[in-house]
Amino acid sequence: MTEQASGADGSQEQRSVLVIIPTFNERENLPLIVARLRAAVPDAHALVVDDGSPDGTGAIADSLAEADERVHVLHRTEKAGLGAAYIAGFRWALERGYGVVVEMDADGSHAPEQLPRLLGRIEAGADLVLGSRYVPGGSVVNWPKRREVLSRGGNIYSRLALGVKLNDITGGYRAYRREVLEALPLDAVASQGYCFQVDLAWRSVQQGFTVVEVPITFTEREIGESKMSGGIVREALLLVTKWGVRNRVNALRGRR
Ligand code: GDD
Ligand code: MN
Repeated sequence: MTEQASGADGSQEQRSVLVIIPTFNERENLPLIVARLRAAVPDAHALVVDDGSPDGTGAIADSLAEADERVHVLHRTEKAGLGAAYIAGFRWALERGYGVVVEMDADGSHAPEQLPRLLGRIEAGADLVLGSRYVPGGSVVNWPKRREVLSRGGNIYSRLALGVKLNDITGGYRAYRREVLEALPLDAVASQGYCFQVDLAWRSVQQGFTVVEVPITFTEREIGESKMSGGIVREALLLVTKWGVRNRVNALRGRR
């Protein structure tokens, strides 16, 4: 591997960027999102983390990587959840010295054209930038009402339970400065599903990192299916409640 993070001298400009794209059955979407990313942020590298998709997404990722040296693939053998896929991707990124690590869905919900907005805030000094649907200028396009209620409810609940001031703590379009990922105990991140997003943002806030939000337009996928499930929602509810209670008990005991 030839990638390296610039800024070993302390400068924060021109950090090398890796965009992690987790996939499970996204054969039609993957080539489209990679092409859009190429056009929008040509310098960024992409890492597809495929969990042995039965539809052959892994082979498509391989052919994209063959055609473009900035595209990489991590094959995992079974579907182990979004959180686990990202943790594996983060380790891959840290080992190879990338300076900024981005999370992006494969299904087109996260517009690569808006990535410069996220990266701009990293360059300006933020440690973690959340693409937010629920700040002024942010929006959701084509989501069924049910899904929007779930997402807004999940955010309100997380804000109350955890006492964090973020508007979109469940979102999956974000950019991490590598130092954040180095500081977080990736081994200890147990959340399997989408709750992993709350987990990492919450840990980042607690560790004193600067977490900021920029507006994004989240557009529901046109091709394929969401992997969101009842089990994923239940896991999130249970874990967020547990963290919130623990946080309050610790505060009462006078330590944090
Ligand atoms: N490798 C891997 N393994 N990829 C997965 C898995 C998995 O177990 N589960 C989902 N993915 C991939 C999908 O293929 C897609 O590229 C991306 O993760 C997002 O999955 P979707 O199923 O499309 O998620 P969503 O649209 O319902 O949820 C989005 O919004 C949530 C907040 O409302 C995501 O951005 C979530 O991260 C986010 O929490
Ligand atoms: Mn989606």
